[in-house]
Order: sequence, then structure tokens, then C-alpha cells
Amino acid sequence: MNLEQLPGEIEACTRCSLCQSRLRAVPGEGPMDAAVMLVGEAPGADEDRLGRPFVGRAGRILDRALDMASLERERIFITNVVKCRPPNNRRPLKGEMAACLPHLRAQMELLHPRVICLMGNVALGAVLGMQGVMSLHGQTIQDRYLVTVHPAAVVRNRRLMELFVSDLQEIKRMLRD
Ligand code: URA
Repeated sequence: MNLEQLPGEIEACTRCSLCQSRLRAVPGEGPMDAAVMLVGEAPGADEDRLGRPFVGRAGRILDRALDMASLERERIFITNVVKCRPPNNRRPLKGEMAACLPHLRAQMELLHPRVICLMGNVALGAVLGMQGVMSLHGQTIQDRYLVTVHPAAVVRNRRLMELFVSDLQEIKRMLRD
């Protein structure tokens, strides 16, 4: 498997029943040589329609936060734990995450980004088996993972924006090290 083949593989995936309700799978997007990967939870309605990650309300918050942290979205690889939309935007089920995780692991392995930013408890749990974003946010784990809140949490509570931006600024520090 290589990086060019992976999106097609994900778009044709039938490893879990989300393939029956999705409009489009959302493999993720960004340059193949990205030094930074952002990992969210799962596509929402807009992402499902367009086949691109973070293009709805949470995406607009993410874009604003990246801007405020002086990070360029075009230079970042953006993806999710689960690549297909769960019906009614419910949380992905354990089985769905387990079925989909090999796609994310393959992306991490093939892209080999310097920094992997886990946004929210679903990403933190799926990738590192940990919980507690609010106590771990802003922290670097294993010199590679950075934990922060999910942009949808910022949509619900705008007071989290400052925290989100300051966590994202940590990415720049990690890239300098
Ligand atoms: N929320 C996510 O976790 N991912 C998206 O792509 C959009 C919203």
C-alpha cells in the first residue's frame, strides 16, 4: 500500500456498516510531505457531501484557529479517526473505530508527520487509548502527539477558542525542536 492508493482504498471501503449510509467517504487531505497531521472524529453532513474533512461549521472554527496560530491549512494533512459519517452525527461506535483505525494507522505510517495533533477525546482514545482532553490538552505525548479539544467543542463553547489556539501554537514549537 502506498499513499497514492490509500484514498481509493478508503473510498471503496466496506469494513463497517457506515458504508451503507455514507454519501462519500472522507479519506483526508493535505500534502504528502506534511509535517503536521490533524486528527478529528468523523465526517459530518458537509464533509459527507463534499468528501473533504472539516468543511462545515467545525471546519470554519478550525480554519480561524489555524489562522490565529499562524499555521497554514494547505501545509497540514487533515483527517479523522472514522472516515465515513455516522448517522445523525452520533459518536462512532467502538466497532466502527476498530474497523477504520487501520486506515489512520496507514496514513500515519506512510506520511510519517513530525507532529500528530489529536483533536478531542475520540482521537485521543482511538490513537493513544487515553481519555481526558481537558486535563491533557497542550501536552506533548511521546514527543510526537499533541492533544487538544475538538473544534466542535469550540463551536459549542466559544470560550475554548483561546485554549484551542494556544494548543495549536504548540505545534510550531514542536516543529522547531
Ligand atoms: N468533525 C470531525 O471530527 N471531522 C470532520 O471532518 C468534520 C467535523
